[in-house]
Amino acid sequence: MSENFAYPVGLRLSGRRVVVLGAGQVAQRRLPALIAAGADIVLISPSATASVEAMAEAGEVRWERRKYQDGDFEGAWYALITTDDPQANAAASAEAEARRVWCVRSDDAEASTAWTPATGRSEGVTVAVLTGRDPRRSAAVRDAVVEGLRDGTLAAPRHRARGPHVALVGGGPGDPDLITVRGRRLLAEADVVVADRLGPRDLLDELPPHVEVIDAAKIPYGRFMAQEAINNALIEHAKAGKSVVRLKGGDPFVFGRGMEEAHALAEAGIPCTVVPGVTSAISVPAVAGIPVTHRGVAHEFTVVSGHVAPDDPSSLVDWAALAKLRGTLVLLMAVEKIGSISATLIEHGRAANTPVAVVQEGTTATQRRVDATLATVAERVAAEGIRPPAVVVIGEVTALASGNHR
Ligand SMILES: C[S@@+](CC[C@H](N)C(=O)[O-])C[C@H]1O[C@@H](n2cnc3c(N)ncnc32)[C@H](O)[C@@H]1O
Repeated sequence: MSENFAYPVGLRLSGRRVVVLGAGQVAQRRLPALIAAGADIVLISPSATASVEAMAEAGEVRWERRKYQDGDFEGAWYALITTDDPQANAAASAEAEARRVWCVRSDDAEASTAWTPATGRSEGVTVAVLTGRDPRRSAAVRDAVVEGLRDGTLAAPRHRARGPHVALVGGGPGDPDLITVRGRRLLAEADVVVADRLGPRDLLDELPPHVEVIDAAKIPYGRFMAQEAINNALIEHAKAGKSVVRLKGGDPFVFGRGMEEAHALAEAGIPCTVVPGVTSAISVPAVAGIPVTHRGVAHEFTVVSGHVAPDDPSSLVDWAALAKLRGTLVLLMAVEKIGSISATLIEHGRAANTPVAVVQEGTTATQRRVDATLATVAERVAAEGIRPPAVVVIGEVTALASGNHR
């Protein structure tokens, strides 16, 4: 048997006494997993890093502000020795050995009776990697496995609860890197993907050939409304036992009709998971160098749909009230009606020289930004040939100089 071979095991530490000596960087890194495991943690150290102190203040560990003393491991199931005092560490590990307490010594792997693996978690799977004496290699292997589980490239077929199911996934504003980890994984597990025109279209090209990709805009709707036809398609595919992802641009619940789909699925008795997404309302300004809030400049931002003109009786927006706000206004779907919107805002009191930025196709390779004022924005949008999708940002935040951005 090799000295470098450790027997892997998962310790169930809930409610069990664990003693940690030292409260520096090593302890700071190890404590969250011990806390997550529900261990009864006693931390012994005269001082602590600010983060460890915060854990003690939050009641997650019991901190005894002193040095190690013989007898500290009494009743412990597991011990971590992380101080930078080699003598104290040696005495403590001798005590642990004598008491048969499994013990990790951060300063001396040889003197340890246990080794901490590089660990990671993804959706209920814990990955723990030991490579003997090469912690960097352990971390690299751990990262590769966790990444593969998260993005679905590492096949780890789960025991899928049989029966129909749909995931409403917010795909983010367009850049394929801006989908959430969960969204990406569900996409990798899908049999059918019903996708919008907006969102991370590039991700669809990466799906394996057996996955049926349906363009939501092209679902024939005949005697139904387009939305009803989409709902029906989701229901039919789910009932046929397929794993269905409804991939939407941005966040499903920000002008995305996500709740209508969730309701239709609920009515049909089909369970649905909602995966939030990065909304274009915040991310598109951000990549164009515009923070929607900024200290001393804007204490609020309001996201408004501009698809209905202010004088349209069906409008639900109080434009006169919005004109009185000092903060940032973010308009989606507003390119077409920007003339009447800007005129209404000026009419009700927003200054005509308020700076405005329009960002078209944000986060994609074709992103562009046009700057104007409230008085000139309609004319600039027309002159520059701005087309949807675009986000209009109104307010002083658009005039803040920023660093590098696309
Ligand atoms: C029907 S709404 C959906 C919004 C989406 N649910 C979200 O959270 O971003 C579509 C509008 O979002 C905005 N939009 C979405 N993606 C965009 C992008 N990449 N660049 C600029 N605007 C975008 C545009 O205003 C577009 O007309």
